Formats: sequence, structure tokens, C-alpha cells
Amino acid sequence: MSKTATLEIDGKKYEFPIIVGTENEVAIEIGTLRSATGAITIDPGYKNTGSCKSEITFLDGEEGILRYRGYSIEELAEKADFLEVSYLLIFGELPKKAELEKFENDIRKHTLVNEEMKNIIDGFPKTAHPMGVLAALTSALTAFNPKPVNPNNEKEMYDAVCKTMAKFLVIATWTYRKSMGLPLNYYDNTKGYVENFMRMMFEVPTQPYKFDKKVIDALDKLFILHADHEQNCSTSTVRIVGSSHAGLFASISAGVSALWGPLHGGANQAVLEMLEEIHNNGGDVAKYVLKAKDKDDSFRLMGFGHRVYKNFDPRATIIKQAANDVLDALGVDDPLLDIARELEKVALEDEYFKTRNLYPNVDFYSGIIYRAMGIPVGMFTVLFAIGRLPGWIAQWKEMRLNGEPIGRPRQVYTGHTLRPFTEEKNR
Ligand code: SDX
Repeated sequence: MSKTATLEIDGKKYEFPIIVGTENEVAIEIGTLRSATGAITIDPGYKNTGSCKSEITFLDGEEGILRYRGYSIEELAEKADFLEVSYLLIFGELPKKAELEKFENDIRKHTLVNEEMKNIIDGFPKTAHPMGVLAALTSALTAFNPKPVNPNNEKEMYDAVCKTMAKFLVIATWTYRKSMGLPLNYYDNTKGYVENFMRMMFEVPTQPYKFDKKVIDALDKLFILHADHEQNCSTSTVRIVGSSHAGLFASISAGVSALWGPLHGGANQAVLEMLEEIHNNGGDVAKYVLKAKDKDDSFRLMGFGHRVYKNFDPRATIIKQAANDVLDALGVDDPLLDIARELEKVALEDEYFKTRNLYPNVDFYSGIIYRAMGIPVGMFTVLFAIGRLPGWIAQWKEMRLNGEPIGRPRQVYTGHTLRPFTEEKNR
């Protein structure tokens, strides 16, 4: 691999260094481009543009590979648990037994959320979308934790990690409880992290929540599969907001808002709604595949396609198997799973999808499992956020520790050139 790339503009040649990552990804380092050439690059959606170097997650879209800190997603999903993977993503190594126990206990020190936060959630109508409430409550946590964390102070950063992991989970369940007119539950420090999610979601004062280990294990695996995904839209949002040295809660809140979009994390809700529409309209899968191919129809096959994966999303493969297992274990026979399988089969045999390398992504099957667990569809993207939280924290911490500059892209102006002010009588 050559060490430099040559660019020629108006007969003049410019050399730029080439950098190669540990997985042989090649990048042209253009930090001096504008000062040397007067030109910038432009790349809507950053399809060809790297924003940073990172040691956290590697994915290969052509080969369908996903690794967290070098460990394959397949091994982590099978052998680790969510807090263990969270620790790995944030601190860089799989925790020893004592480290993991300490991490879980230190999270438990922060599981009480200031009671005044309830005044904020009370201001929302029951109909408010949980993602909007979660973004607001996450940002509101800053009001009760005003001291900005110094990421270079290891203890401060560790405490902020534990505090964020604890309080985000609690307020995430509050978004559901509020919408249902149910009392807000507290974390139970005698129980596990994922167990507490289900208990805070569904336990009512009149009877204790009945745990189903199959559900807890499946949810733990789903959170692992969602935990990080390099520089996706919401993670890039967390990094760019954090690059202004905005606090961790404010940066995570921005990530929640970015994830909400139906082209991103909101797709898991949109997939379920699409499958329900197909089911309610007689299950004619072919009709919807045709709609998805029709350029004059804004309908897209939700849960299909990916900016990076041009092969199977490895997470979708694992989740598809988990959907079979969980529904069998729960004795749930969901016609939407049959529709999803048929939709996948028809699409993957269709030239339009094949030529565009459109495969099921992480959102295609996850909603089927959430539905079987009794999670309401409006909460699906909240679950994505809970899974993605350690990734957001890890990426924010890496960006700050690397001392990255404030994110401020350039543009190419295509508006009016200079023109004199037009008096109102002449407009
Ligand atoms: C996530 O980035 C990440 O890592 C995200 C994520 C993560 O873990 O953080 O993996 C999570 O967001 C997964 C994606 C969830 N979104 C959806 O399922 C929504 C449906 N998918 C699409 O909207 C789309 O595939 C995107 C947004 C995911 C990717 O869009 P791109 O990379 O900008 O691709 P594109 O829109 O340029 O599409 C290329 C072609 C176009 O056709 P042509 O113009 O070439 O004729 O493929 C077509 C598109 O019309 N296309 C689809 C399609 N997705 C792309 N056509 C029908 N149905 C689809 N789903």
C-alpha cells in the first residue's frame, strides 16, 4: 500500500498521507487539504468520509463482520452478558469477576432518580412518544448532576458511567409507566440489571413481577447486539455534541433523538407497524415488495438495507434465530413472524434487492421478539437506546480522551451571490 495519495487540481499535484487501520481499512488523511489546495471535499451522508479513528468497534459490511474491542458479536452474544459487554466497550477489556461485580454494585449506588424528576415527566401527556420523553428526561438529568464530568479524571469518568447506566434504565421505564398511567417503579438493588428493566416496566403494586428467565436471557442478548455499531447516525451525534464539551447526559440525550428517526433506530417500530399493515391487508407480501421497489412510492421495506452492511447484518442472523427460540419457548405463535420470514424470502429472491445488496438489518426481527415479551411497540426504540447506551458512553469517552477538536464540517455555498438590499416598496 503506498504511503501517500496524489490529488491533481489544475495541473498541480498534492500529496496526502494514507493511513491503514489494524483491519487494513485505508483512509486518506486530508487535514491539510483546504490550506494546501483551497478545496474541500463534499460527501452528503458521509458515505465515504471517516470522522475519527476508533478502537471500540470494527465492522466489515462486505463480509458481515461485527466485533466489539476485537471480540466477535457471535461469541459475545453467546458467552457474555450485557453488563460485561458494556464494561468491555467502555473500559476496553472484558472484566474480571471482581471488576464486573464491582461495576454492577457501583451502578446500584446510583439507581435512585431524584424525585423531582417526576415533576418533569408529569408535564408530558400520556400520548407523548416514549423516545421524546426519554430524550427530555436524559437531558434533565443534567439539572440534578450539574458538575460536568472530567473524562481525564478516571474516578469521575467511572462514576459518571455508573450513574448514566443506572439512571437511564430507570427513566426509560418511566416513559412507559407514564403512558400507561401506572406508578413509577424503583430499581431493586437485589436484582440484576436486565431483570430490573422488566420489573420496572411491568410490576404493579398489587403483585410482584413474575420473572421468566428465557425472556431475561433473550433481552440480555438483544441489548448486547445493539450495544455499539461504530459511527452510526446516533453515535456520530453523541460524538459531535460531546465535541463541544457538552456534558455526557446532554450528548446522550441528543443521541436518543437521532436514534428515534425511522431510518435509524425507529425502524424497529416501523417494521412492526409494516408487518401489522401487511397482515391486516390480507398478508399479500408481494404487493408490499412491489411498493418498496416503486420509485414513485415513498414506502420502503423497513428493517431492510443498511449504509454499511452490503451482506447479511450479523445481528439480524442472530436475532432471527432468537425470534424462533423465544417464540417457541413462550409458546407464542405470531403470524407476523411468518409474514416477516416470507417477506425476507421474497425480497432476497428479487433482483431489485439483490442488485442493491439490501438484506434484513438489526431492526427486522427484533420487534417480533419484543412483541412476544409483551413490550409495547412504542417502546421498541427505547429498548434500542438502552442497548446502545454503553456504546454511546464508550464513544463519547474515547472522543474526549483523544482530545478531538469540535466537530464543524464545511460546506459549498450555492445560494445568491452579493446583491443590494431591496426596499419594501420595491419587493
Ligand atoms: C440502523 O448505521 C448504522 O450502523 C445503523 C444501525 C446501528 O446499529 O446503529 O445499524 C441501526 O439504523 C439500521 C437501519 C434501520 N433502517 C431501516 O431499516 C429503514 C429502511 N432502510 C433504508 O431507509 C436504508 O436502507 C438505510 C437508511 C438504512 C440506508 O440508506 P442509504 O445507505 O442512504 O442507502 P440509500 O437510501 O442510498 O439506498 C440505496 C438504494 C436506493 O435505490 P436507488 O436510488 O439506488 O434506486 O437502495 C434503495 C434506495 O431506494 N433502498 C431501499 C431500501 N433501502 C435502500 N429500497 C426499498 N426498501 C429499503 N428498505
